[in-house]
Amino acid sequence: MNGSGVCSCGGATSEADLALRLDETIARYQSVPGGLIPVLQIAQGIYGHLPEPALLRICSGLNKSYSEVAGVVSFYSFFSTEPRGRHTIRVCLGTACYVRGAHRVLAELKQTLGIEVGQTTPNLQFTLEVARCLGACGIAPACLVGSVVHQSIKPNQIASILQSYE
Ligand code: FES
Repeated sequence: MNGSGVCSCGGATSEADLALRLDETIARYQSVPGGLIPVLQIAQGIYGHLPEPALLRICSGLNKSYSEVAGVVSFYSFFSTEPRGRHTIRVCLGTACYVRGAHRVLAELKQTLGIEVGQTTPNLQFTLEVARCLGACGIAPACLVGSVVHQSIKPNQIASILQSYE
């Protein structure tokens, strides 16, 4: 499922269906101590991100204040209130990667995608992020696209790497 409410199987899912699934989840966790985080995780799985109406529904269903729920969402980096791309690109800016040109790779990605770090392309294909070390310093500069590591990247390889994910 992506942020537009379209399943990866190609079938459309209505807002009402999504809300129903969220309500079922809330009901399941209503009396479970610490149920807020699993509800948020499942809600993000349902919507692809955590839109405002879903957060309000969770507040009311779990009887929590908006500030409490919003505080949890902003504390954990894996929660997102904005739609995310199908593929998350993480450019390593750790020392080994940086000295081998990761900043030029990042600049090329920003220019090619037309977005800044933390943003998602309008077609919801890519979200751009940075990382501090991917544990792959020997193949620097490295970046992750989803769970795939790309190694020894040069700026002039960016276009073909992106094309392989289109
Ligand atoms: S510094 Fe980039 S992988 Fe370690």
